[in-house]
Amino acid sequence: MVDVESIRKDFPILGKGVIYLDSAASSLTPEQVVLKEMEFYREYRANVERGLHRFSQRASEEYETAHEEVAHFIGAKGRENVAMVRNTTEAINLVANSLDWEKGDKIVTTVIEHHSNYITWLRVAQRHGCTVEVVRSNREGIFDLAEFEQSIDDSTRLVAVTHVSNVLGCIQPIKEICSIAHEHGALMLADGAQGVPHIKTDVMEMGVDFLAFSGHKMLGPTGSGGLYIAEEQLESTEPLCIGGGTIRDVSLNSYELAVPPQKFEAGTPAIAQVIGLGEACRYLTGVGMDEVKRWDERLAEKLAEGLSEIDGVEIFGPSDPRQRVGLVSFNVRDMNPHDVALSMDTEYNIAVRSGHHCALPLMKELFGLPDGNARASTYLYNTLEEIDVLLGAVEDIARV
Ligand SMILES: Cc1ncc(COP(=O)(O)O)c(C=O)c1O
Repeated sequence: MVDVESIRKDFPILGKGVIYLDSAASSLTPEQVVLKEMEFYREYRANVERGLHRFSQRASEEYETAHEEVAHFIGAKGRENVAMVRNTTEAINLVANSLDWEKGDKIVTTVIEHHSNYITWLRVAQRHGCTVEVVRSNREGIFDLAEFEQSIDDSTRLVAVTHVSNVLGCIQPIKEICSIAHEHGALMLADGAQGVPHIKTDVMEMGVDFLAFSGHKMLGPTGSGGLYIAEEQLESTEPLCIGGGTIRDVSLNSYELAVPPQKFEAGTPAIAQVIGLGEACRYLTGVGMDEVKRWDERLAEKLAEGLSEIDGVEIFGPSDPRQRVGLVSFNVRDMNPHDVALSMDTEYNIAVRSGHHCALPLMKELFGLPDGNARASTYLYNTLEEIDVLLGAVEDIARV
């Protein structure tokens, strides 16, 4: 089991007296990652792949090593399969803007998606005359695979599904959905924003063509993230931007793009952030992703069970804790979720998120709740005692 007490020492911010239960929005960052980023600025700050001097050489080496580390963390073959981008949203937009869409192409997505993996496809549909078909889940966020079998057909160009819902915490059978997509010659994109931080991810095993993820949700710096691109799609996937750093050759009237990953990295990359993300991957690997998952399940179980026992509290998501990560959203009586979150912060020093969580289709279609709900989300540094404090606070609030 995760040694939480020792892990907590790596997060000095936890000494500020706040119980941080908002890691699904953005995780905290351990000292090792902060120091690694600072090392770049203090020891060898320079641009990468551009200079022959020693700072540039060191920066390039550290950047490439980190890039390799990130690729390894998600089970990719090598760093050429991972485009470093700012976040999940940019990664998804890269795919949306790089495919040569044709009128009539179908995109299959689901009702539980984050806006980043939803409106992006609505825009593709508007721009290129494609259609978007939305697969619905039950109220727990669980899908019947037959629904995907029904929606995905030979006109489907892309299936875009989240690995883990940021509202319901439910884990989706990406591998199985991916098989259905591939049977029909469709591409598969998984939104890994909530999956990669919590579940050992192996893109080869999942079989996906694309996987988007954010560094800031997995102990890394803000401004770091990645898009995994399967070997077969590397050639045809167009970069979002081109310019310095992306070319093999340029003449007066033509240019030739470099090989991946350089072709995806236009301009000076987020050097310190990528180096920091590499360190975050090392940190998580050191703890062990299986351990992270086990601890997550323990926290989620206590959280979900405890909340569901409080009079006047409704919780959302799967009833089986093994089907969710450490993330439980809930509402207290008919209180506005923002009032609940504000009270948690000001009166109990607990940070939770509230609102629609950028998932309005889910909130409206499954629950008729445009104001959304409150959400407590955990990570490897949270303790069972912190969950007890949260449960006590919710009990107090529900009593009013
Ligand atoms: C499931 C999911 N997808 C996409 C995103 C967007 O991530 P980012 O804001 O890092 O681009 C989030 C962020 O909360 C998310 O939870």
